[in-house]
This record gives sequence, structure tokens and C-alpha cells, in this order.
Amino acid sequence: MSPFRLTRLLPEGTAGADLRADVLHGLTRTPKVLPPKWFYDARGSELFEEITRLPEYYPTRAERSILAVRATDVAAATGARTLVELGSGSSEKTRHLLRALGPGLDSYVPVDVSESALKGAGAALGAQMPALRVHALVADFTRGLVLPDTPGPRLVAFLGGTLGNLLPDERAVFLRSVRGLLAPGDALLLGTDLVKDEGVLVAAYDDAAGVTAAFNKNVLSVLARELGADADPDCFDHVALWDRENEWIEMRLRAREALTVKIPELDLAVSFAAGEELRTEVSAKFRQAGVAAELAGAGLELRHWWTDGKGWFALSLSTAV
Ligand code: SAH
Ligand code: AVI
Repeated sequence: MSPFRLTRLLPEGTAGADLRADVLHGLTRTPKVLPPKWFYDARGSELFEEITRLPEYYPTRAERSILAVRATDVAAATGARTLVELGSGSSEKTRHLLRALGPGLDSYVPVDVSESALKGAGAALGAQMPALRVHALVADFTRGLVLPDTPGPRLVAFLGGTLGNLLPDERAVFLRSVRGLLAPGDALLLGTDLVKDEGVLVAAYDDAAGVTAAFNKNVLSVLARELGADADPDCFDHVALWDRENEWIEMRLRAREALTVKIPELDLAVSFAAGEELRTEVSAKFRQAGVAAELAGAGLELRHWWTDGKGWFALSLSTAV
């Protein structure tokens, strides 16, 4: 059997139906919103990888530095034979875990909506770790995930701070569903970005080179390709702001002038007033007590909490109660 397998769990047409529903719902309400998962077509996944290399975008480097030191502790604490990774992207940082889990690891199951990211990760892993059995799933991790039957113990990793891209009520539902994937002896490894100085946070989402702006505007290209929308990216400004009350970064697209976006596939015309904003992402930042409480609310107990040297990012290991 080939060590790389890819299964599409999003039935043909589901992505299209979900996108239509999200656009219809999100662009006909006030304020306008879209879920961030629509950033990640092949170009969006590439732009995200570019973001991870920006001087201002600290989360990837911070999390990698924790993994480099703690991967062996994670391996010792879990003895995982299957590593499942939700929102795995390039799987680049995951190599620390894969190496630490070593020959005891039977399978790596990366899960992502981005097929191009999964294929890229599969090719890179095939070259670097040819003996590793990789079963990639093209799937939406918010939609009742069914995992392949691989040996336990199972470690579910959710890295990068992607939990923060879900709203609080979505996080509660999601964490409960993750809890449902865990048998006794299984564990969740969660990466969460932490509350810190506002200037550091905003710069990470509004970099000088404009890569995050291009990533934000990429959602307009997705709408153009998938639904025929005629939104001109040059008619929108990238906005990143810190919401102190909710302790999250919000990314928005702000219309430079009054305009109408036609979306023929939905038979819809969406009007923007001059200066009107479309929220494209929240990126929540956490504190230890909040993470422990959210985990507890989902039936998970925080066992380890590790941070980088600056205390900017945390990796936590929890188990089912
Ligand atoms: N874990 C990687 C990538 C983070 S970027 C890292 O830490 O660098 C977020 C990843 O989650 C992207 O690859 C994106 O395609 C994926 N993603 C976003 N929403 C998703 C969803 N609902 N279901 C599955 N994957 C999703
Ligand atoms: C994937 N996720 C954790 C990133 C974040 O930081 O919220 C996505 C991102 N958005 C803008 N830059 C990066």
C-alpha cells in the first residue's frame, strides 16, 4: 500500500453549497460577515505560508520553538500511535511531533479543507519521512468528522492558533466534537495564541509587505471564481483591528466607495456604503484560565501548559475527563 492516501470527505458539491449558504447569509446581513475558511483555496494556502515567514507574524515561530523543545514530552505523555491533525496546512511544524513519536507511530492523519495544502504536505513528507503512513482527509473539521480506523492511542493536534478563528459558541461546539473523537488514553494538543501588547498583535495582521492584505482580499477571488462575483479587490482596503473587549483581532475588508457587488450564481446584488466593512476573520487571543475553562466545558482536562520564551503563544495537552 502506498504510504500516502487522500480521501475527500466533503461530498462533491458540498463546498459549493456551503459557500453559497455562507455568502447568502453573511452578505445580506448587517454587519456583513464571512467565515475565514473561505480564504484557503490553493492561492490562499500559499499566502498563509508566506505570512508564516513574515517578521511581524510571530505565532508560527513561537509555536515551532515550543514544539522543538516539548515534542518529546508530548510523545512520552501520549505514546500516540495515530496523530490526527486538524487544519494541518503544510504540516511543517508537525515534523517535530512526527519525529518525536518515532517508529511507534502507525499513522498520520492530516485534515484540511485545502486539498492543495494536503497534497503539498504529502509530497514533502513522502520525501522526508518515506516510511510514514499518511492518510490525508479533505474535510471540514467543524462538520462531524469521522476518522479512519487506525490504532490508538490517538493524539489530536490543532495547532497554529486556528481555534481562535472560531467564534466562542463555535469553539464550544467544536471542542465537544473533538472530545467525541477521543477514547480513554487519547489526548488533544492545542496551540493557542495569547493576549499581548496591542501593537505586536496588530502588526502581525497588518504587515508592512502587504501579504496579509493580499490573503484577506483572496476571499474576493474565491467569490469571483466560485460564484462569478465581480468584487474588485482594489475597491477594498484591508483592515486589522484589536477588539479589546472580546480580546480578538478582527480582519475586515472596507469598501473605499459606495459600490455594488453582483453575484450571478446567487442572483444577488450586494450593496456596500462607502466605508462599509465586511468581517472576514476573527483571531481570538487567549489566557490560560480561559483555555482551561473552555476545555473543561467540553469534557477535557488541561494537563500541561507550555509557552515560548516570551509567553506569547501556548501549547497545551489535555485528556478526556
Ligand atoms: N496548522 C497550520 C496551518 C494553519 S492555517 C499551521 O499551524 O501553520 C489554518 C489551516 O486550517 C489552513 O490550512 C486551512 O485550510 C485550514 N482550515 C480552516 N478552516 C477549516 C475547516 N473548517 N476545516 C478544515 N480545515 C480548515
Ligand atoms: C490560521 N490562523 C490561526 C491564522 C491567524 O493568525 O488567525 C490566520 C491568519 N489570518 C491572518 N493572518 C494569519
